[in-house]
Amino acid sequence: MNPQIKKRLLRTLIICAIAFAAGAVFALIQEKSATVKAPTSVAIGGAKFGGDFEAINDKGEAIDQSILGDGYSLIYFGFTYCPAICPTELQKMARALREVEKDNPQLAAQIQSVFISIDPERDTPDVLESYVPMFHPRIIGVTGSVEQINQIKSLYKVYAKKVREDDMADDEYIMDHSSYIYLVAPDGELISLYGIDDGVEKIVQDIKALPAL
Ligand code: NI
Repeated sequence: MNPQIKKRLLRTLIICAIAFAAGAVFALIQEKSATVKAPTSVAIGGAKFGGDFEAINDKGEAIDQSILGDGYSLIYFGFTYCPAICPTELQKMARALREVEKDNPQLAAQIQSVFISIDPERDTPDVLESYVPMFHPRIIGVTGSVEQINQIKSLYKVYAKKVREDDMADDEYIMDHSSYIYLVAPDGELISLYGIDDGVEKIVQDIKALPAL
């Protein structure tokens, strides 16, 4: 194997392992502090998720938290340069949406899906516009200034960090980040988190069990 490819592969594996470990820790916290069983409500350490924010959508327009709409929302945080996990998770979110659309289009219409970039420096609106709709036309791509994205990350307790390795060019980096799909209620309350081990079916089941609005 080409040593360069080998190195990249190894790096991807390490990142996956880190993401997995972070996920396991988060899942443990979730397990410990879950007051009510999903799909009704999960309070994580009594932490409040979400809130007011400002950002930029994939059309380059200024937006705020109102893009989440009055209904439920599915939110995923990732970056378009991600070699493996982000595309897999975005695909999972898109498949869940399609399943719900097929059985209950009215319910599906009440769910706003959003992909929020944790790599705003590279994920410009143009980059997002040519990436996010490939998964599902209804998923909105969101980016913003570094400050705006930092604020959204803290609202949703997202971990993301730039990682640079010795063999990388000065301007090259990858993002080490937590990977969860968030199902959020109209009032901003977190209903559930889906990690890399959760399947499409679990998300679809939870969505179908949501109280009608
Ligand atoms: Ni990723």
